[in-house]
Formats: sequence, C-alpha cells, structure tokens
Amino acid sequence: MLEKLASQQHNPSGDGVDVNAFENIPRHVAIIMDGNGRWARRRGLPRIAGHRAGMNVVKKIVRAADRLGIEILTLYAFSTENWKRPKDEVDYLMRLPEQFLSSYLKELVEKNVQVRVMGDIERLPAHTRRAVDKAMADTAANDGMVLNFALNYGSRHEITEAVRRLAIDVREGRKDPEDITEKDIAKYLLTNVYPDPDLLIRTSGEIRLSNFMLWQLAYTELWFTDVYWPDFTEDHFHEAIRHYSGRSRRYGGVKE
Ligand code: FPP
Repeated sequence: MLEKLASQQHNPSGDGVDVNAFENIPRHVAIIMDGNGRWARRRGLPRIAGHRAGMNVVKKIVRAADRLGIEILTLYAFSTENWKRPKDEVDYLMRLPEQFLSSYLKELVEKNVQVRVMGDIERLPAHTRRAVDKAMADTAANDGMVLNFALNYGSRHEITEAVRRLAIDVREGRKDPEDITEKDIAKYLLTNVYPDPDLLIRTSGEIRLSNFMLWQLAYTELWFTDVYWPDFTEDHFHEAIRHYSGRSRRYGGVKE
C-alpha cells in the first residue's frame, strides 16, 4: 500500500494531490450515490438528466479515488428495489453503464483500474451485461484500483443467497453446522475477495443504508452529506476522507 502511494506521488497524472495531507487513507470506500432525481427536479429537468449528471461525477470521483491510492471503490449504481421506478427511468439507468464505459473504458484500462460488478447480473438486460462483461474482460489483467459497481444489488438478497448456499453445503456434508463461523458466511458473500469498506459515503441528506452491504458495513465509518450526487465534487470526497482519517476505529474494543 505504501509503495502504491509512493508511486502515485510520482505519477504525472497525480494532478498535484498531496496524499500526505491525509493521515490515514481508507482501503475500501463505498458510496451510495443519492439525490440525482431531486437535483434534476430543482432545475426543472427530467430525472434522467440527474442520472446523466451523476454519471459524470462518477468519472471525477473514480479519478480522485485512484489518485489517493484507494484500493477498492464500490458504487451503488442500481438496487434490486430500483426496478420499481418508471420504465423509462429504468431503461435509462440500464443504458448508463454502456454510456459511461463507451467514453471512459479506455482511460480505466490505461489507469490500471479493474472493473468489477456485484449483484444479480443475470437479470440485467443483455446490452447492459455485454457492456459490463467487456469492461471486466478488458481490465481483467489490471492490478490497480478495483472499481466495483453494485448493479441490481440488494444486501438481503446477497445474504439470503449466502445462507442458501451454506445450507446446501451442510446438506451435502461439506460443512458441519457446529463449525460455521463469521468468516464462513463472509466467504459466500459477493464481496468475499475484498476487505469490508472502511468508509461509507451517502449523499443527498438521507441517513439510511437502503439495503446496501448490511453485513460488510458492521464496523464501517459512515459519512453523510446533504449534497446531491451530481453536485458532489473532489473536495467533498476529500472532506469525507479527512473525516475518516481523523477517526479512531476501535472495533468494539478500547484504544490506549
Ligand atoms: C439515486 O438517486 C441514484 C440512482 C438510483 C442511480 C445512481 C446512478 C448514477 C449516479 C450513475 C451511475 C453511473 C454508472 C457509471 C453506472 P435517486 O434517483 O434516487 O435520486 P432522488 O432520491 O433524488 O430521487
């Protein structure tokens, strides 16, 4: 990690960001990008205009996270509940990954970013899947920051699936129920290869988790802002990181 930070300080694309300004950089940052619809309504625009503006903010924050040396950035892009939205809006949201990747995948490949998706991707339209499959394939050999999109993701669904698979292992005799540990459960989650988020950011003033990473956020530092996602800037992001940086995590214990 330190090596990575050092190498980024010498990276000409670092845009002069002083990573030393932050005492402690989180390894894994998760973001609930909320407020696109309200942002648009305030401007008398259709909701999809808010999503389009939100997509452009994703690019800026990915660059900012990469510059800081964050290892994993997980973005809540579409929840299992978002299907309840009007069809036009869902159709637009399902086009966003293609739009985003058509203009940005080249940069992600060059920046050594690994694109990943977590969620029930089988249920996504074929065109959305094609776009994300291509992005994952094109960045599969990269070993830099993981950009993890939660797409058709719901935490209760994820946990239910984990329990179901664990129950099958018990039934088939591969697992003794007496031996089930927290680590075993974590292994069945979609995040099994990542550490839990260190910091969760939610924009737009809503103070709730909305079925996002309920297991993984158990000890995560939470940072909420009233700013709508399309207005979220690199400075806001740095504010969240600074906030995290100054906090002391005790994981339920005490710190000397
Ligand atoms: C929540 O705002 C936002 C979403 C459901 C979609 C988030 C998607 C993006 C920010 C763009 C994603 C980009 C890529 C690359 C996939 P909301 O519509 O619930 O806002 P509201 O609460 O104000 O109505």
